[in-house]
Amino acid sequence: MCNWCAYAGADLAGVSRIQYPPTIRTIRVMCSGRVDPVHMVNGLMNGFDSILVAGCHFGECHYLDGNFHAENRMQAIGDLLDISGIGRDRVQLRWVSAAEGQLFADYVKQLTDITRKLGPFDPEEFRLPLAAVEQTLRSPRIRWLMGLTRQLTEQGNVYNEKLNVEDYKVLLRRIMAEEYEKALIAETMKQGPRSVPEIADKTGLPVYTVSLRLNELERHGQAELSGYEGNTPKFIGLTT
Ligand code: FES
Repeated sequence: MCNWCAYAGADLAGVSRIQYPPTIRTIRVMCSGRVDPVHMVNGLMNGFDSILVAGCHFGECHYLDGNFHAENRMQAIGDLLDISGIGRDRVQLRWVSAAEGQLFADYVKQLTDITRKLGPFDPEEFRLPLAAVEQTLRSPRIRWLMGLTRQLTEQGNVYNEKLNVEDYKVLLRRIMAEEYEKALIAETMKQGPRSVPEIADKTGLPVYTVSLRLNELERHGQAELSGYEGNTPKFIGLTT
């Protein structure tokens, strides 16, 4: 919760004795824009069933556009959670002002209902996709692209070309899917040398996609051929 709005709204709910389920654990940050998507994944990895990010309404962020960045990142992590099979409903974003104690309580009830319907989240069941989602969100390519949202869609690139917002979202989704596939493959190779069919079997990716992404990982010095088992090449991941 951002210090200036959502946290103050939660505080107001408390002092006004407004009832809401005791299902949340609060972390106060200065702005919703401070919440890195990696923090949300770490929450799921550590056994929380869902994550709520709450900040100021648009136009009221004390750092001007922090909530814009929060919304943009939430969209990205939602897409990634859908791709991974975890599902975007595990992370939610809400705007609450300092005067909206009742709204805060309503949102906690709402999120509690959503989470009950989803059921408990078992990080062990999603160990591989979670690790790949985290790695994708740490990837410099994705962080660079997410950090340039406003520049690319509002100010334009060095040639003064602006990207349509929808085109930008499609581009980001495509690049995230590629990075996620590479991260899944890299995670699988952490267990030892793997052949293309073994990686395809473990990740559920088509053999063609595994070959394509392995080739990209090799070109970027993140994987290499480690030897052969019979005639089958085996690959290992390299830390860069
Ligand atoms: Fe509240 Fe930025 S200060 S969202």
